[in-house]
Amino acid sequence: PDLEKWVTELPRPAVAEPSGTKDGHPHYELTMGEFEQKLHPDLPETTVWGYGGSFPGPTIEAEQGEPISVRWENDLPDEHLLPVDTSIHSETIPYDLPGIRAVTHLHGGNVEAESDGHAQAWYTRDFEETGPAFESKDDYYANEQPASTLWYHDHSLGITRLNVYAGLAGFYLLRSDTERSLDLPDGEYEIPIVLQDRSFNEDGSLFYPSAISEEQSLGDDSKPDPSIVPQFYGDTSVVNGKAWPRLSVEPRTYRLRLLNGANSRYYSLALREYDESSGETGGDGPAFVQIGNDGGLFSEPVEVDGRLELSGGQRADVLVDFSEYAGETLLLHNDAPALYRGETNAPDDDLVPLPEIMTIEVSDDGTAGESAQLPESLARVPDIPVDSVDNQRYLTLNAGATDDYGRKLHLLGNEDDPSGLMVTDEVTEEPSLGDTEIWSIANRTAMSHPVHLHLVHFQVLGREGIGDYEPGDEVDPDALEEPAPYELGWNDVVNVDPGEVVHVIVHFGEYEGLFTDQTGEYMWHCHMLEHEDHDMMRPFTVVESDD
Ligand code: C2O
Ligand code: CU
Repeated sequence: PDLEKWVTELPRPAVAEPSGTKDGHPHYELTMGEFEQKLHPDLPETTVWGYGGSFPGPTIEAEQGEPISVRWENDLPDEHLLPVDTSIHSETIPYDLPGIRAVTHLHGGNVEAESDGHAQAWYTRDFEETGPAFESKDDYYANEQPASTLWYHDHSLGITRLNVYAGLAGFYLLRSDTERSLDLPDGEYEIPIVLQDRSFNEDGSLFYPSAISEEQSLGDDSKPDPSIVPQFYGDTSVVNGKAWPRLSVEPRTYRLRLLNGANSRYYSLALREYDESSGETGGDGPAFVQIGNDGGLFSEPVEVDGRLELSGGQRADVLVDFSEYAGETLLLHNDAPALYRGETNAPDDDLVPLPEIMTIEVSDDGTAGESAQLPESLARVPDIPVDSVDNQRYLTLNAGATDDYGRKLHLLGNEDDPSGLMVTDEVTEEPSLGDTEIWSIANRTAMSHPVHLHLVHFQVLGREGIGDYEPGDEVDPDALEEPAPYELGWNDVVNVDPGEVVHVIVHFGEYEGLFTDQTGEYMWHCHMLEHEDHDMMRPFTVVESDD
């Protein structure tokens, strides 16, 4: 359907209210269900899934040092809204269960393993059936980590891409006194913004492909139908649950909490001047001044010079000063091609571009706009020193394998199994609690992948060519290509472009008064959800150290 752009005001997700207390802390009950939602005035109502009756779900606002618990009730219908490929891990997944499997992961949460939303900790409606890793009905979040922009979303083995596409995601904002003392824009001047892409059928229903094309497979005709697709790119920008929205702002400084919540798409963002009548973009709009990313605030604000790259699952906490743009319209512009390859992007052959994300209309009430005073320093972000490293791992991102149906398979591997293992293979990564490790992640495929580690936040040391690094070599940060401005601080996702190895340093456990000690099994995976499901996900286990 051809939808008129920029006619719907961007909504702010509602804030979730606790339903009561449990063991003296706030307790939430959020129900996953199916309902209809108006995503655009030109579209009939769309059947979506969401938490608490909305897509995206309501924002959980939590306070550093104050734990909460959440019961993520499953009230999803019997049948999936989207085509389910039952060939994925069919030996492990009981596809014929009544009801939909769901389990919620708090992305970026430094949480106990039982509450992490393990892909095998799924459950069906009213907890009738539970997966092998299921442990408790309520998830417990200690909130002992820096104030940050976290988010929650479904994580069920083999159908995460479908459950999230249907709408199962929302924000989780962790706040703190130290953050409040910075006097950052708040209230209506602080806006959580989740960027997604969707496609629609004429009747308003969500479109998600059910079969792969010839060139996406190896020509074998025994492919399952429905079949998972290698990547998904929608033709419509959906932001906070609205198609092609506009955001009205005052000529002053705002705090935008950007999240890439798309299935496969990358965003590479800038604000441009925009002429609504012609649809032409003009000169540069205001810069993003980035104050934080995945795991919290930076030590100081950084002006993003050029594009802000946001790969799947990543967050960017930015200040934007609209005071010089009173009366103007700006476009949030994306120049990332669908099939993202970082420096070697070839936008010319981009099949599903999504350059226009949302417009921003700056009001003009005749008064001079006011720009906020930027704090010089934001938060304590202690560097993890390279000479404290206890262990190094070489991890690989691979193409080249195929599944039983001849479909291309992306896999994660390590030094012993460089060509890759599946999610169901034994745990091979077992860091000890209290250890610091370097994970050197080498991309041996032809496209970029956002690599996400549960539980921990890491620091990006830098990147180099695959051929310039041998597993086991010492990593010298001074000899590497430096992290981009948006990669400073605490990350839980890092983008790895083809042909490069990215070195990240990670401490397992409490670090200088930040984060908590946790042991047990967690996941790490590619955050392109089609890849995560097939089969770019692996477990890792944090073990008690024996010394
Ligand atoms: Cu945002 Cu394992 O996920
Ligand atoms: Cu991937």
